[in-house]
Amino acid sequence: MKGILLAGGTGSRLYPLTATYCKQLLAVYDKPLIYYSLATLMLAGIREILLISRPGDLPLFRQLLSDGSKWGLAIEYATQAEPRGIAEAFVIGRQFTGQNRVALVLGDNIFVGHGLKRFLARATAQPSGATIFGYWVSDPRGFGVVEFDAKGNVLSIEEKPSEPRSHYAVTGLYFYDERVVEFASGLRPSSRGELEITDLNNIYLAAGALTGLRFERGFAWLDAGTPESLLEAANYVSAIEKRQGLKIACVEEIAWRMGWIDDDALAALALAGNNSSYGNYLRSLLLEQEI
Ligand code: G1P
Repeated sequence: MKGILLAGGTGSRLYPLTATYCKQLLAVYDKPLIYYSLATLMLAGIREILLISRPGDLPLFRQLLSDGSKWGLAIEYATQAEPRGIAEAFVIGRQFTGQNRVALVLGDNIFVGHGLKRFLARATAQPSGATIFGYWVSDPRGFGVVEFDAKGNVLSIEEKPSEPRSHYAVTGLYFYDERVVEFASGLRPSSRGELEITDLNNIYLAAGALTGLRFERGFAWLDAGTPESLLEAANYVSAIEKRQGLKIACVEEIAWRMGWIDDDALAALALAGNNSSYGNYLRSLLLEQEI
């Protein structure tokens, strides 16, 4: 399975932070926002990744992530010149995806909590169809909204409805079979001029090929689209990391624990981290292993 990281958009709600800098590279406590969504793909076992962003931002992503080989990944890059919708990622990524199944994650979404790996494994284990994730929010009107029946089957999905049929927001993490490129290519722009991910999901729903999983209560799905939510996400990560002494979305650690890089490679990454607390953390992983 391949993965697409979509890091587009202007980040207008974060102005002036985003006047010169890209939203997905802003700090969420001790690491750039993009690390969190990248970590989610990695925890799903995905190593071949296409990062899509605005042309002007690509050099920054390349500088940060390079070709991914330092973390045992293969990262490619493509541009989305205009914000023409999430589903356009599959049109842009047509060559990259080929005949493979593919997961898409939005570069400003943060998933943290118990059971994440298990949930991701359920999605990757589906041989065909699509999988989306519902998350209970107090006010779902600003999201895609998914309605479930008593057995947990998806009944409907609506994009930003004024009268939502449930409290379940559709998160920015999606898994599709190899038909996704064909389906996405057939979409027409919505009234806001975008190829809507909700329209794509509705094609799978109509075909009886959509699975909806629900994150449990206590799980954290955060985004960082406004100054408040950026600060809240940073505070959340800092509180848990300080309490446990374990980092969230530390991509180097994930690569090492997945067996994609060895101890020497991790030591080299720790060295590159210099005397930062991040570098010290990577060093501590190797030391603790020896105890
Ligand atoms: C998009 C999707 C929406 C989804 C949300 C998750 O909204 O269209 O269905 O719930 O991402 O972050 P947007 O951020 O483009 O308004």
